[in-house]
Amino acid sequence: MNNDAKEIRSQINRLKNFGRKNVIQEILSTIPTNLQNKNDKNIDKQILRSAILAELDAINLYEQMSEITKNENLKKILLDIAKEEKTHVGEFEALLLELDKEQQQETEEGKKEVDDLIG
Ligand SMILES: [Fe+2]
Repeated sequence: MNNDAKEIRSQINRLKNFGRKNVIQEILSTIPTNLQNKNDKNIDKQILRSAILAELDAINLYEQMSEITKNENLKKILLDIAKEEKTHVGEFEALLLELDKEQQQETEEGKKEVDDLIG
């Protein structure tokens, strides 16, 4: 292999590795940077809200994938796990409502408004 070919191959490998790194960074979750190294009185509420976001996103992901697959067993498993994620939402939400009384009050207010609007 001549030097030009080596250089081209080396650049292709760099691009491939760069692409792989970006894909992995997009796939894997990280704790939001604004939650790291914080030590204030609201941190647990912020963690719980972020956890709820992650669970809700997981529900969307699993349900979307269940709609794509043609494998009935995989569809069944994805929908079962999506259902479990809904339980996780409930767990985090229950603790958040314990810690955030304003959220508890506003959640009740939201339910009343929906009842008033759609009965
Ligand atoms: Fe979960």
